[in-house]
Amino acid sequence: MYPSAIAALLCPVCAESFCAESFRTQGPEHSPASAGTAAGSPALVCASGHTFDVAKQGYVNFLTGAGTSFLPDTAGMVAAREEFLSTGAYRPLADALATLVASKVSAGDLVLDAGTGTGYYLSAIQRAADVTSIGLDISKFALRRAARANPETVNLVWDVWRPLPIAANAVRAVVVIFAPRNAAEFARVLGPNSVLLVVTPLPGHLAEIADEAGLLGVQPDKQEALESSLAEFFTPVSHQNVEYYLLLGREDVARAAMMGPAGHHLDPEVLRARVAFLPEQTTVAAKFRISAFSALPAAHRQ
Ligand SMILES: C[S@@+](CC[C@H](N)C(=O)[O-])C[C@H]1O[C@@H](n2cnc3c(N)ncnc32)[C@H](O)[C@@H]1O
Ligand SMILES: [Zn+2]
Repeated sequence: MYPSAIAALLCPVCAESFCAESFRTQGPEHSPASAGTAAGSPALVCASGHTFDVAKQGYVNFLTGAGTSFLPDTAGMVAAREEFLSTGAYRPLADALATLVASKVSAGDLVLDAGTGTGYYLSAIQRAADVTSIGLDISKFALRRAARANPETVNLVWDVWRPLPIAANAVRAVVVIFAPRNAAEFARVLGPNSVLLVVTPLPGHLAEIADEAGLLGVQPDKQEALESSLAEFFTPVSHQNVEYYLLLGREDVARAAMMGPAGHHLDPEVLRARVAFLPEQTTVAAKFRISAFSALPAAHRQ
């Protein structure tokens, strides 16, 4: 894991920092919060001694014992997302986002991917820009895959609606791709000359399969809703639409349905029966918007 990204973390228990050296092989003397941890397993240890084990897949769970009322993506939803993304269907979006991030950051800057999922977009960003990164997600199923995809990234199980375990002004770019946005916390962690990039679907995205796949529609006023939800802390700077057509087989349609919010409610058997009525391949519009925002100076906040 990137030492400079570890240095930007704050302990979720006491808000002390973790020095880069705290990521080390942990001996039995560091026992209080980690009883039962085998000696020699890696952990993050804060300045007060709170210890967070690094899971064998490489992510760190900061939500230990805290519990949360938000619904994490399930193993099935995460598997569908990874399979769908591995077809390259959203590669043009990943490339456009990565190019944009690369144009806004300098070497060594820290990028935060909030709701990183399987880490697909962060992989593209790291191919395009020489940055360090933190990925947050509430789903440990997602982070298992993200940690495999991006082994240098600090991948943290965390609820984005809680205060982020990251120091103020430590981050140069926050990216949020189809995931929840905590404007106040994003503004706190972003430093001067930094950027918030939000990816949302545009009206008409996957419209050709919305019914069969039981997808939740995109409201026409989504952009205004996005801007007003951030307005207290951010001002819009620019946006870029990414639009193209995809040829999706029935399995891809089923995965597209399972990987989104509708996946929480869909029965895979019912879904399979429904997509069986589709032609073997369907041409579908992919329509996204990448919106860039800059944080308002504290004095200008409403
Ligand atoms: C639709 S997925 C998008 C994942 C990824 N950005 C992508 O596009 O591949 C939404 C992600 O947000 C995560 N998520 C939902 N609520 C969250 C919360 N309160 N805190 C952190 N992550 C959350 C989910 O677990 C899921 O991985
Ligand atoms: Zn601590």
